[in-house]
Amino acid sequence: MSDPEPIRRIGLENVIVADTELSHIDGEKPELLYRGIDARELAEKSSYEETAYLLWNGELPTREELDGFREELTERRAVSRGVSEVVEHAPDDAVPMDVLRTAVSTSSVYDDVGETPRENAVSVLAKAPTALAAFGRAREGDETLEPRDDLDTAANFLYMLNGEEPDDRHAEILDTALLLHADHGLNASTFTGRVIASTESDIISAVTGAIGALKGPLHGGANQDVMEMLLAIDESDEDVSGYLDEMLGRGERVPGFGHRVYKEFDPRAEVLKEIAREVSETTDGPDWFGMLEEVEAYLREEKRIHEKGISPNVDLYSGTVYYSLGVPIDFFVPMFAVGRSAGWTAQVLEQYDDNRLVRPRAEYVGRNGVEYTPIDERE
Ligand code: COA
Repeated sequence: MSDPEPIRRIGLENVIVADTELSHIDGEKPELLYRGIDARELAEKSSYEETAYLLWNGELPTREELDGFREELTERRAVSRGVSEVVEHAPDDAVPMDVLRTAVSTSSVYDDVGETPRENAVSVLAKAPTALAAFGRAREGDETLEPRDDLDTAANFLYMLNGEEPDDRHAEILDTALLLHADHGLNASTFTGRVIASTESDIISAVTGAIGALKGPLHGGANQDVMEMLLAIDESDEDVSGYLDEMLGRGERVPGFGHRVYKEFDPRAEVLKEIAREVSETTDGPDWFGMLEEVEAYLREEKRIHEKGISPNVDLYSGTVYYSLGVPIDFFVPMFAVGRSAGWTAQVLEQYDDNRLVRPRAEYVGRNGVEYTPIDERE
């Protein structure tokens, strides 16, 4: 029997490689659903921890189930000595995504995880923010703090990073940002995690690989670029339109705009825009939100861009929100990773449930029949 004709799709664009019940993206409406529920509604009414539970279990938790889940998370928040040594001794100028990836990977070496995939998933969700906050403090020469079990994931992270309990609204805002990043279909990092899981490798390896994929500038990274752009505009003598004229003149893209799926508006950006507005109204300092509105208006009027269906994405507003909460700029992509850990782990658990090894093919376009040349005869 001859092999079936291969399907050629470089970049796997629009290729279905898995069934999922976790998240659904409709770029036309546009909407993002987690287990069938609109992410915007969850952002308004629910929490990151509830959403993680929903993604893992298919249903929102009862109060009792949520309490039990929170207890599981708080029990596993502390990292082992091995992990904390790696994090605290990392050079101050280490890239935070590298530190986070190494911390997650190291956790499986130091018996810091559980027996079952689900226990490992809890470990990732609970320990990743702890390790990241510890690095944030250690590189500033500050003493690292023990996690608090009376705070939820977002509030505990801000406490462990900034050394003081955040006010309730700030913790709520970070919680919403994490929730909005929790899952997003089969993006590159999630696919990476699923490919690793499909070999029946463990969940820590899958998340370690996913973090590596998210680190690339074509995936994570634009939220940091947006904030750096705003700081550069603020420090320059130029106004927003002058700066953008030059940027586009150099053939660069404006970070925080454009999306492969959403062509009208990214629904996550819709929620974060209102939060960015609120944060800006209640925080001293430059009017980052006003500048973002100017950037948005410029791109709307700029026909070259607008006619291509380029609109704000999730990264346009998340940066100024994190910045106002005291999160360092180079922690913005790791924050994305912390939020997405819920989706990565849920997707890996789903892959295990109905696994088939992911093994596509590459078309060989190299030479054939090349003769071996002994080393002394090579030129
Ligand atoms: N600023 C200016 N022009 C942009 C743009 C942006 N942010 N995003 C896309 N374009 C232009 C491209 O130059 C291209 O123009 P062309 O057809 O004249 O060559 C056209 O719009 C389509 O871009 P393309 O790269 O094919 O779209 P894509 O779906 O592959 O890319 C992104 C999606 C997200 C990679 C892209 O929009 C981008 O690089 N955005 C900036 C980075 C960012 O915000 N990333 C976070 C994503 S959540």
